Amino acid sequence: MDKKEKPVFVTGDRPTGKLHIGHLVGSLKTRVEMQDSGKYQSYIFIADMQALTDNAKNPEKIRESIMEVALDYLSVGVDPQKSTIFIQSQVPQLNELTVIFLNLVTLSRLQRNPTVKNEIKEKGFKDSIPVGFLVYPISQTADTTAFNATLLPVGEDQNPMTEQGREIVRTFNAIYGDTLVESTNVLPNKKDSMRLPGTDGKAKMSKSMNNCIYLSDTPEEIKTKVMGMFTDPNHIKVEMPGETENNTVFVYLRALATDEDIRQFAPEFETLKSLENQYRKGGVGDVKIKKLLLSIIEKILTPIREKRHYYEEHIDEVIKILEDGCEKARSVAQETLSKVRKAMGIEYFKDNALKKYYLETKKNK
Ligand code: TRP
Repeated sequence: MDKKEKPVFVTGDRPTGKLHIGHLVGSLKTRVEMQDSGKYQSYIFIADMQALTDNAKNPEKIRESIMEVALDYLSVGVDPQKSTIFIQSQVPQLNELTVIFLNLVTLSRLQRNPTVKNEIKEKGFKDSIPVGFLVYPISQTADTTAFNATLLPVGEDQNPMTEQGREIVRTFNAIYGDTLVESTNVLPNKKDSMRLPGTDGKAKMSKSMNNCIYLSDTPEEIKTKVMGMFTDPNHIKVEMPGETENNTVFVYLRALATDEDIRQFAPEFETLKSLENQYRKGGVGDVKIKKLLLSIIEKILTPIREKRHYYEEHIDEVIKILEDGCEKARSVAQETLSKVRKAMGIEYFKDNALKKYYLETKKNK
């Protein structure tokens, strides 16, 4: 099959800090698997413009995180030979598409977007919502339509974004003719991978709460974090029955462990299910499950750490990858933008369009 005909997936991350293990199971893993399958054209980008929508006064924080995220991508296996890796702000075509789409969405529809609503509350904007922030679902639609993406490997919180994106595409196509394609999300297939909690059991991992396991953490940092993780607060003695459903260590195990890992590191149980059963009955200590989790995390992160080390020693290579990716992204986005402008009839100086419009109106008068 011709490369052009392969379905496209697009996904990105806001560069507001280093990526953590929640990003890995929530979307990085899926995108690397999709990339490696060879069935798709992939675009993976650092969403710095989107990050600025609520960080306008902290541009240095965003700037500093760009290389961190780029290194995270490369170290988890995003491969520049197979995927286009780029930085959002270097593709100005996305901004023009955004402005065009702004007219197709009402303010009340934006205010009803559950993810935006939630974030407004979390960030404490109250009546001072930056306009750019409120409209970021619209710019996100530009990010995906520009590359003709049909698939978006993202976390569950992005469902309302994609829903709103499809509405924009339908509205555009209904007014201006079939031009843009609709996309759907590809979510991780394990429920516990959807949103990994912090190591303290809080719903969200966040830098300020110091409850994240970063992909770039050292083995010592990870050991401290895992051994300090929350379990079942009522499971005080090894013999006592323990709870596994909301037990943070088990949530992580369900998201990360394969049965092969269990056989390798806890052969007496063979499967995660039988370990869980035994823990619920009593007789399995918290130190044991934490050590198991630690071994599994180290198994996952060791090759990632090695790759990261290579790229840290070859920063110019990383910069070249990003620069080339941005150039490719600009040229693809420009093709879409030209189609959009043509569909809208605003390519006035192409094919003598302006003169034709003038003569037609005169004729009709
Ligand atoms: N909103 C996404 C996040 O916070 C980042 C993002 C921006 C994105 N544009 C996108 C994801 C387009 C998928 C497709 O992580």
